[in-house]
Amino acid sequence: MFLGKARAYTNIALIKYWGKKDETCILPMNSSLSLTLDAFYTETSVCFDKNLTRDYFSLNGEEQSVQQTAKIAAFLTMIRQQYQLDLFAKVESTNFVPTAAGLASSASGFAALAGACNQALQLGLADADLSRLARRGSGSACRSIFGGFAEWEKGADDASSFAKKIPSDDWENELAMLFVLVDDRIKDVSSRDGMKRTVQTSSFYQGWLETAPADLQTAKAAIAAKDFKALGEVTEANGLRMHGTTLGAVPPFSYWSPESLKVMTCVRQIRAQGLPCYFTMDAGPNVKILVEKKNISQLKALLLNDFSENQLITANAGPGLSTLPVERLMS
Ligand code: DP6
Repeated sequence: MFLGKARAYTNIALIKYWGKKDETCILPMNSSLSLTLDAFYTETSVCFDKNLTRDYFSLNGEEQSVQQTAKIAAFLTMIRQQYQLDLFAKVESTNFVPTAAGLASSASGFAALAGACNQALQLGLADADLSRLARRGSGSACRSIFGGFAEWEKGADDASSFAKKIPSDDWENELAMLFVLVDDRIKDVSSRDGMKRTVQTSSFYQGWLETAPADLQTAKAAIAAKDFKALGEVTEANGLRMHGTTLGAVPPFSYWSPESLKVMTCVRQIRAQGLPCYFTMDAGPNVKILVEKKNISQLKALLLNDFSENQLITANAGPGLSTLPVERLMS
């Protein structure tokens, strides 16, 4: 029996990953940049065991169906092939999120699973290789190996596509991200399906590819200069461009709800009043607001005019992947 356990924190992209050029290996069309956060994380244990006849996956204590286990099983199969291993595994994951508001993330999930497998099988992988491994589960997971700012260089193949930490002189500790949770009863298009449809059909996708590299350079320069306004502006513009591509897809779709638009309007108004803050969104209607830590309470106070306390979650910069002691044999 081979056991491992790890914890990884979720990350939010400031410059988005949107589109794959290789679906199997999860190689992205563009490089991306993220901030790892402290508010949401996943702890995952894995146990490779010769007595198992298939892979098992339980999430927050609930056994998942074979269908719900498919992505995890595919990841484990990739590991089995890569390391000539002949054992099925039991995976137990817990998502630590302040509310059950659909904030569980495949980024923290696959980063934690990669870390747990590294420990269980004593693979001895360094961060770049852990990042490559996590990428095979979910693209954004490759950035959650690192704390603070991370850049996923798209690379040309499996060997060259991985994330690395961006030197920042700990500037991320002066920043925060405020999550505004909005009604998400709208039917989801997963990020995986959404980006696929966009790459294949959106007449706006070319524009995304043409602008993303310059956005990344602008973001990196802003981090190097600790220029919050420049980082915020490019974060907001890049996110909007990503969401713009979905409107050109066939059939068109959008992750925005009326409430998301309300948050965006509030952010613009608050900014016009002199408080620097910038929004970004992912494959869902929740809005994340990048703000300097020194302004977080004022931002919250202003948003409380339109939203309730339990819709607002503050996150600070978070750490990278860590392994945990395996405290018990799994049931
Ligand atoms: C909009 O990493 O969830 O959050 O690689 O198919 O698992 P797969 O997709 P995923 O996509 C994340 C998309 C995004 C932007 C980002 O995190 O960069």
